[in-house]
Amino acid sequence: MENVGGKCNGAMQQRAGRRVVLFPVPLQGHISPMLQLANILYSRGFSITIIHTCFNSPNHSKHTNFTFHSIPDGLLESEASTADITAFLSLLNANCVTPFRDCLAKLLSDSSDEPVACVITDAIWHFTQAVADSFKLPRIVLRTSNVSSFLAFGSLLLMQEKGYLPIQESRLEAPWTDRPPLKFKDIPAINTRNPEDFYRVLSGMFKETKVSSGLIWNSLEDLEQSELISFGQDFPIPVFPIGPLHKYFPASSSSLVTQDQSCLSWLNTQGPRSVLYVSFGSLAAFDGSQFAEIAWGLANSKQPFLWVVRPGLVRGSEWLEALPSGFLEAINGRGHIVKWAPQLEVLAHPATGGFCSHNGWNSTLESICEGVPMICLPNFGDQLVNARYVSHVWKIGIHLENRLERGEIEKAIRRLLLGTEGKEMRDRIVNLKEKVYLSLRHGGSSYQALDSLISHISSF
Ligand code: UDX
Repeated sequence: MENVGGKCNGAMQQRAGRRVVLFPVPLQGHISPMLQLANILYSRGFSITIIHTCFNSPNHSKHTNFTFHSIPDGLLESEASTADITAFLSLLNANCVTPFRDCLAKLLSDSSDEPVACVITDAIWHFTQAVADSFKLPRIVLRTSNVSSFLAFGSLLLMQEKGYLPIQESRLEAPWTDRPPLKFKDIPAINTRNPEDFYRVLSGMFKETKVSSGLIWNSLEDLEQSELISFGQDFPIPVFPIGPLHKYFPASSSSLVTQDQSCLSWLNTQGPRSVLYVSFGSLAAFDGSQFAEIAWGLANSKQPFLWVVRPGLVRGSEWLEALPSGFLEAINGRGHIVKWAPQLEVLAHPATGGFCSHNGWNSTLESICEGVPMICLPNFGDQLVNARYVSHVWKIGIHLENRLERGEIEKAIRRLLLGTEGKEMRDRIVNLKEKVYLSLRHGGSSYQALDSLISHISSF
């Protein structure tokens, strides 16, 4: 699909004389959609200021239209790690209050700048609502993930409050009746040293989103119509499902890591739709034995693969040390392994036939936008929900939900790349891709939601 986005692709609109201040959570899957949103708002005439933490600072030189302000995040060297993601996010929500408030105060007092219309902050930055309120500034929330997983997090929180957790092992396969079609085993839990951190971040996110001036989704009506209706019943705020954000502008330049372009020349040597792209995003991690099962599944399938093995993907390993012995001989040149890929280009490449993914929301949406069916290997949190939707609602992927085992992986790869089932999934995802494409066109649902968002911001 080419990049669309109605008015965003045309000539730059006149400056609106208003500034919007955005504050992304410093993780790849959150920074990219926030910067994409910033580009969209810039193209609609707003001046853009980005406040960001020192940790995972975006590359300013790639976004010369924006003004950047870095704030100290107070992380000690030992704390600057995403290994325990909820502990990390909880700490940042506490550490950033004063620096964010000070930075905003300075921006608001600078009379040489355009007046600030509102702040747009990630849903996870729950403390920013109180800060915005203290300046009488509207706060709009960006939820970089989708509606169904947000609702699942909400139900999880209620279950925790009622003392229904943890779910007994024997009930994990049962339907999660509050959230069909999910099963109890899809509850979007996240392992953490301190569960208090997890529930603090979650409840903060829900409470402060409810009193915000609106919510932008990196999702769209055509994918999640009934979920959007359910959300509206509990959250009486304006909502703007304007996604997929990455489709408004040509390939994003917000990668925090250098993308290995050798992927593309390697793909050029492969047959059409023959390659399985394997990538688990920026946070997921496996232990050595799970990694070895994935490796043998790939090798035994005898299909070509492009595998992103990010340093940190295997717990306790620097990079490829955990590859089982005999693996490289077994694949006999059929595979290409890199540390980080230009994922959007890989998914759009004609040689890519399937995507073995952790189902982070960005990866899932990017795969839908390129019509590439998936093998789902969710790791934690919203990924479990997304995988269930991919396999059981949209029916565009095979969910490896039972055992992470080489034989299962090998079978799934062959079913996806070679079987009629894979072909049917491809047909369905291409259909879905077309719907997404239409939603971004003039009169489409995302297009209209974006128009409403612009009017909403302009009314402040
Ligand atoms: C995190 C959470 O893990 C995820 O569950 C949530 O939905 C969003 O935040 P992450 O794990 O990084 O995100 O996954 P994902 O949402 O898929 O985002 C990864 C991004 O990195 C994608 O935009 C993808 O295109 C990009 N990427 C990934 C690359 O550019 N190169 C790679 O090699 C791998």
